[in-house]
Amino acid sequence: MKKLILFLILNCLAIEYIIGQNSFLQKQGTATQLVVHGMPFLILGGELGNSSAACPQDIERIFPKLKKMGLNTVLVPVYWDLTEPVEGQFDFTLTDKALQQARENDLKIVFLWFGAWKNSMSCYAPLWFKENHKKYPRAYTQSGKPLEIASAFSEAVYEADHRAFSQWMQHIATVDKKEGTVIMIQIENEIGMLEDARDYSREANKIFNAPVPAEFMTYLNKKALHPQMLKKWESQGCKKQGNWQEVFGADIYTDEIFMAWHYAKYVEGLAQTARSIYNIPLYVNAAMNSRGRKPGEYPSAGPLAHLIDVWHCGAPSIDILAPDLYDNGFTDWVAQYKLHNNPLFIPEIRLTDNNSVRAFYIFGEHDAIGISPFSIEDGSDSPNSPLVQSYAKLTELMPLLTKYQGKGLMKGLLFDSENKERIIADDDLTITARHFFTLPWDSRATNGSIWPEGGGILLKLSKDEYIVAGSGIVLEFTKTSEKQTIEKQKQLGEDGFALKNDQIKTKHDKFKGMRCGIGYVDEVKVDKDGKLHYVRRLNGDQDHQGRHVRISVGDFKILHVQLYEYQ
Ligand code: DGJ
Repeated sequence: MKKLILFLILNCLAIEYIIGQNSFLQKQGTATQLVVHGMPFLILGGELGNSSAACPQDIERIFPKLKKMGLNTVLVPVYWDLTEPVEGQFDFTLTDKALQQARENDLKIVFLWFGAWKNSMSCYAPLWFKENHKKYPRAYTQSGKPLEIASAFSEAVYEADHRAFSQWMQHIATVDKKEGTVIMIQIENEIGMLEDARDYSREANKIFNAPVPAEFMTYLNKKALHPQMLKKWESQGCKKQGNWQEVFGADIYTDEIFMAWHYAKYVEGLAQTARSIYNIPLYVNAAMNSRGRKPGEYPSAGPLAHLIDVWHCGAPSIDILAPDLYDNGFTDWVAQYKLHNNPLFIPEIRLTDNNSVRAFYIFGEHDAIGISPFSIEDGSDSPNSPLVQSYAKLTELMPLLTKYQGKGLMKGLLFDSENKERIIADDDLTITARHFFTLPWDSRATNGSIWPEGGGILLKLSKDEYIVAGSGIVLEFTKTSEKQTIEKQKQLGEDGFALKNDQIKTKHDKFKGMRCGIGYVDEVKVDKDGKLHYVRRLNGDQDHQGRHVRISVGDFKILHVQLYEYQ
């Protein structure tokens, strides 16, 4: 009985603790949801250009535009150099201006702490820090060249960065506890070593030759590792102890693991402080290891997917490793970051109209937490711009998407001129989804125009009932059994022999089984409770007389599709 009472008290305390938080992460099925003011939330965001939050007038000019564009969240840099221009003296003017403007324009904020590192470099460290290179040492290349990258192995660097970050966090806790405008914090920006895969300072070399910490060795032994980490550990026979090269081999990928461990440990210190002051979700962002580059050619040791075990073990207070996407291969990149142990959040992506449909894709396919094109203030705020249309529809869809996240009922669709089609098996249905330009009647499909990406979400509400939302897509629904009958007939005749082509035709004529038809396609609006409201029926030419469901390129729609079966 005593145990039960204690359990109940502890439970109440835990619930109390979570309810007290303005934003937190929670699990729903296989999804991780961001909850803001008690409601699951999708970040329809944008990140400001690096220097766009450095002047109060710019903030005043930009934020109303972001509201007009339909964003619900803005990612805003916080600059260490302007926050602590004189050592020990802090100035939060820009932070306060961003908060005030966000509140006036119904925006949430994700602040980005541009502290010791920004894109590997230490350009946002204050001048007093930069000049005092004896006290605040740099990382070194193997050839002994100092870099404009503060050393992660220096206590003094950590303490200076940590002190400024703590002061700023304390300020946030004071000015934001009631309103909860700040929903997440990014610690540092695109951490990573350049030129070489690790720091070669004297301090770094010493630690490099010491044993791999027991904490990490235990993690390797106990956890299901990322395939690349497992391969690396196996390559030296899964040693239980040894220095970094003994455990992982002597190459730059080992250097990268070593470096990642120390970056992660450094970040963990800041993250723990943040949590103790103002407990909201925390993440780190990574520059991708793209285009065949090696560690050091890309920022080595950042929070990259293949280093997730190092980062998880070294920085357990960090909730998300988030990819910054500037290269081709969008679907491959996002799949690398939606892992069983990492939710997908895209804090930066190159500003392009294609983001409008990619947003649908990541919410449908990967239960993403959000997306945020970079330098968002340069985007268009015209109601016809693709991102504005997309965010408007996704805002409407939010109650539905968050209700169905993590339950295996949603798919994301994304097509371009090379990847034109996806076939989805869903119980007894085969759903063929394609780019809108696969239809013969749009001249842009064949006149040499570059195909804008088409994409959307397919959400199953119940048997034969779907939501199809997005832009530039067309879907056909057939019974899987119908197809199987045809295939079987194709292969074997009555005598068990393969049929000739003319015989197959005869067999087709003798169709047996059920077929799938379109009962209706309605364009709908979704209200705040996730209820559907009829706008118009799309029949006749608009669904090709009942043959398909489509949304043209340039249009963004939410469709309610009811199928039926007939014989
Ligand atoms: C990624 C960085 O995180 C951003 O701050 C910015 O520098 C962009 N690259 C490119 O402009």
